[in-house]
Amino acid sequence: MTSRYAETYARWKRDPQQFWAEAAREIDWIAPPQKIFDETAGVYGRWFPDATCNTCYNALDRHVKNGRADQRAIVYDSPVANTVREYTYAEALAEVETLAAVIADLGVSKGDRVIVYMPMIPEAVFAMLACARIGAVHSVVFGGFAAKELATRIDDARPKLVLAASCGIEPGRVVAYKPLLDQAIDLSVNKPAHVLMLQRPMAEADMKPARDVDWAEAVAAAKKAGRKAACVELRATDPLYVLYTSGTTGVPKGVVRDNGGHMVALKWTMKNLYGVEPGEAFWAASDVGWVVGHSYIVYAPLLHGATSIVYEGKPVGTPDAGAFWRVISQHKVVALFTAPTAFRAIKKEDSKAEHLKRYDLSCMRTLFLAGERADPDTVHWAQDILKKPVVDHWWQTETGWCIVGNPVGLGLLPVKAGSPTVPMPGYDVQIVDEGARPLPQGQMGSIVVKLPLPPGCLPTLWQNDARMKESYLDEFPGFYKTADAGYVDEDGYLYIMGRTDDIINVAGHRLSTGGMEEVLSSHPDVAECAVIGVKDNLKGEAPCGFVVLKAGVSKSPEQVEKEIVALVREKIGPVAAFKIAVTVDRLPKTRSGKILRATMKKIADHDSWTMPATIDDPAILDEIATALERKGV
Ligand code: COA
Ligand code: AMP
Repeated sequence: MTSRYAETYARWKRDPQQFWAEAAREIDWIAPPQKIFDETAGVYGRWFPDATCNTCYNALDRHVKNGRADQRAIVYDSPVANTVREYTYAEALAEVETLAAVIADLGVSKGDRVIVYMPMIPEAVFAMLACARIGAVHSVVFGGFAAKELATRIDDARPKLVLAASCGIEPGRVVAYKPLLDQAIDLSVNKPAHVLMLQRPMAEADMKPARDVDWAEAVAAAKKAGRKAACVELRATDPLYVLYTSGTTGVPKGVVRDNGGHMVALKWTMKNLYGVEPGEAFWAASDVGWVVGHSYIVYAPLLHGATSIVYEGKPVGTPDAGAFWRVISQHKVVALFTAPTAFRAIKKEDSKAEHLKRYDLSCMRTLFLAGERADPDTVHWAQDILKKPVVDHWWQTETGWCIVGNPVGLGLLPVKAGSPTVPMPGYDVQIVDEGARPLPQGQMGSIVVKLPLPPGCLPTLWQNDARMKESYLDEFPGFYKTADAGYVDEDGYLYIMGRTDDIINVAGHRLSTGGMEEVLSSHPDVAECAVIGVKDNLKGEAPCGFVVLKAGVSKSPEQVEKEIVALVREKIGPVAAFKIAVTVDRLPKTRSGKILRATMKKIADHDSWTMPATIDDPAILDEIATALERKGV
């Protein structure tokens, strides 16, 4: 089949408003949009400014009304809890409308924020949808973050309520969430009035009587009383959620998602990008704490009337490297979406894909990869073993959906390993120099997107228009700065080569080295520090911290290094995967005092490097190389 991509992209470019007006017909509005885009509203304009709607209605109620009541909406598959449980659309709706009533009874109403701190269990999905139903703004915090990170988010979002589960299950250990949550609430200034706590038998939480409410008891009582909350009419521009993501400092950015534009964009992607039909099973093997989980575990599959897999497990070790193949064949998954690191993990354990022989994967059509650079080796290996198209696509928490991808539903374009392919309708992607001047084809530069951003992308940062402008819009006037660098080849394919800021990508998780440096500097024995991302065969990148100790420190360098590793785990969380700390006598700097992080990275990665002309003392680079060698990096 020849792809309809070129024609579709050209149609969008000719008349973007007409394009999105047509896409908006797929949504059940309360008041349909009369105006498609208002360029005078918000920071750079707002989509569907006069429309009203409810996202939960579109994700659940309308499917129940339109013949999908008995179809699977959610399949919960947990090798770590030894459970598989399916929820039909009717069952999911019953859970959500009851939970929404419980939340409302706890004093939450339209516009209030609710923090969700839960592992990959169906109740996490119900929690998000219940908030959406009554117009509360959810903010999901990933379970691998430490109490301090959770506290920062609580203080910025000022939630009335926290929805939490008592624990998460990591292979080999149960992570008790409640002590972390209690500690976070203690640390926070803006304390939530209540915690609705779902007790899991693997680690039951101690309850604080005045504040904590038992989830199961409250839901059971509400069901008995026939309590159900109706969908609240919201403006398309009202916030659906806030999702915090790493910024260039330790303070995360609260990415805001609206209701209307988000639904329109995500619904469009399910068929046109992912090539999935309503009724089919789609699996995003991520976590509801990340944007991939928000968009493609929860909202997009349900808006589309598809079945979404909620998987509480890992690609390897739960119980083996055949876990993904088992889930695909057992639940008839047509498209899998995960991060390349998951495939690297499988390849490491089972390079010949012996486990694959035990399963029938004929239901599966496509593998989608995102979250970090898909290295050609991994793409080729996945293609070889699966014998299906492997499609890389590039996006960010900020955009909420794919910027550059290969639109399977419009007809697959030739795959070039190493490139996520071409811009999706809605995105005019350009490569520019520091003066925002376009660069010629093949030349590397900053990747920017011409404003306005399409529906679904962030309209602003939570209660912080100034930071939105300063972070994304000021540097390249008229464009959104992605903070990624890359180039476009002769066929218009984009290549993403790295970040232009201090963000690193560890196992598909986005982390700020600046945030880690703040933690290292807070150690009483550390005079100076620098954190860089070094190449890692499994996780893509791993953080590596260099520290210079204060004069007269009596502890051994090894002791301080150990304490620093523990401190990052305590302050940021295990998700930071900070395991390499190296003590050095001095850090390499320019004559003006800037730490030469890029050169240090090249040395650590064993890449070729040249002596920076501005270096103050070249001998320090040899010291860095020796210190890394000592550590086995
Ligand atoms: N709650 C508590 N701790 C968590 C957690 C959670 N929800 N998720 C991860 N952690 C912990 C892990 O247990 C690990 O702790 P450890 O240092 O004690 O081993 C640490 O955080 C790092 O986790 P992770 O990056 O997941 O590494 P891993 O070694 O456990 O697993 C992979 C490596 C490749 C298997 C894993 O990263 C993976 O499955 N990736 C799939 C891709 C993905 O989910 N990407 C997200 C964006 S799409
Ligand atoms: P996040 O906001 O966590 O989704 O991380 C977004 C960042 O991850 C992007 O800015 C990129 O640096 C990186 N990223 C995501 N997807 C890809 C991809 N397909 N190829 C290369 N880098 C990617």
